[in-house]
Amino acid sequence: ASIPKPYNEPMLNYEVGSVQRKLLKEACAKLRNETIEIPCIVGGEEIKTGDVQKQLICSDNKKVLCTFHQANAEVLQKAIDNSLAAKSKWEALPFEDRAAIFLKTADLLNTKYRYEILAATMLGQGKTVWQAEIDAAAETIDFLRFNPKYAEEIYSQQPPANTNGCWNRVEYRPLEGYVVAISPFNFTAIGANLPSSPALMGNVVLWKPASTAILSNYIVFKAFREAGLPDGVIQFLPGSGRLVGDILINNRNFAGLHFTGSTGVFNGIYQKTAANLSAGLYRGYPRIVGETGGKDFHFLHNSGEVDHFVFNTLRASFEYQGQKCSACSRAYIPASLWPTIKEKLVSNVKEMKQGQSDDFSVFVSAVIDKNSFNNIKSYIDHAKASADAEIIVGGGCDDSVGWFVEPTIIVAKDPHYKSMEEEIFGPVLTIYVYEDSKFEETLRLCDTTSPYALTGSIFAKCRYAVQTANQILKSAAGNFYINDKCTGAVVGQQPFGGARASGTNDKAGASLNLLRWVSARTIKENF
Ligand code: SER
Repeated sequence: ASIPKPYNEPMLNYEVGSVQRKLLKEACAKLRNETIEIPCIVGGEEIKTGDVQKQLICSDNKKVLCTFHQANAEVLQKAIDNSLAAKSKWEALPFEDRAAIFLKTADLLNTKYRYEILAATMLGQGKTVWQAEIDAAAETIDFLRFNPKYAEEIYSQQPPANTNGCWNRVEYRPLEGYVVAISPFNFTAIGANLPSSPALMGNVVLWKPASTAILSNYIVFKAFREAGLPDGVIQFLPGSGRLVGDILINNRNFAGLHFTGSTGVFNGIYQKTAANLSAGLYRGYPRIVGETGGKDFHFLHNSGEVDHFVFNTLRASFEYQGQKCSACSRAYIPASLWPTIKEKLVSNVKEMKQGQSDDFSVFVSAVIDKNSFNNIKSYIDHAKASADAEIIVGGGCDDSVGWFVEPTIIVAKDPHYKSMEEEIFGPVLTIYVYEDSKFEETLRLCDTTSPYALTGSIFAKCRYAVQTANQILKSAAGNFYINDKCTGAVVGQQPFGGARASGTNDKAGASLNLLRWVSARTIKENF
């Protein structure tokens, strides 16, 4: 059997008067009027622990979107036992049958759940309609369609040579034990990808979704089950990161981690696994796959096209309130172009409409929660008080209705100013203006300024400049763009991930990632 040729899901535009717009508005209104209660799900059984938390609407933060029961130690242990019991039957299922479940999930999300998952992503994670469409519809579906094709490529890789009278072959077994998936709030698509990739390769998975993305992730989980995913293959375990980490990672059967989140949390888990490994707890070396932070950059050369640079920088910095790990958060601009660019950036930012995420006319909405709001505000307050920085537009923060932070641009006099180096994860762009003659020197500065290496872009027409940037910045970004914005990698087109403090660079949306979830066995048989 062969997996159907995948294609990228076309995006809908929800134009005024369209049926899609009407249906999505209705779905948003419905979610605003009801409060769904979400259980843990272990082996198909719904478990209500009574330890209830709320997911709020980011842009209207007195309103509860859903409540959810947090997994406790007993539920987590039950989930481990149940997964291990489900494991042998799942891994014995032919690959095509596993693939069919995820292909069918893509179809269900595209049809039956399309408006519900978009509305949950808009209200719960603060995405505007367009940002929700590219995430919860297109990218989610793309992961589920492309991964089976990549998996098929892996399974078909066999040794090219056999000697007379013998047959060499490689069997791609799942890992021995279970995989833990810990997914972030900022992409519903990552919520779908982190548990489904290891499961597609025959693993059982314990999934802890982000507490600020429970509803959309629960809809993904419902779709998995409805598509025929057997009970116990993926367990749905909302709850505290610490407890989940302690119990699921400190176990002999822990075999792999598929993580997207902050560098700090990832480092903590890495250390824990290293300590457990040296204490002899595990059977083998767990596969640790993580995509973490970024301090992504746009670098403009004086041959670059000004309007193109401005348009893309505004999108990369402020779409989804700068909460993509790929978001542009620092820019380097040559002094000769700065007056023109400054004027264009400021006037455009002033025109950006900010508001409720289910108001279809807004460009930016609120940030995810109170912690994030406070953290972003602390950077803005620092810039207001610092002699090394100047806020040229934005700077307002107001949490009276939702967690609203205005799109903000800081100009740093010092290229090592705090917000040039540290990840903020919010709508704050910091700019350093360099002397045109110091292009190469500033490229080297860009390479060494932050510990991260996720995404980055060079904007230049001059091919020498492109080539120089390409060379000097070759380790500065796992996804490097030439004359394009540093956000918006598409599954099947630009495999995504970074190195250094940005993660293990096991590209999402590529066979590289799926290879991490198999353990190969070579078999030589003599005839
Ligand atoms: N893949 C997304 C992007 O490139 C980030 O996760 O923007």
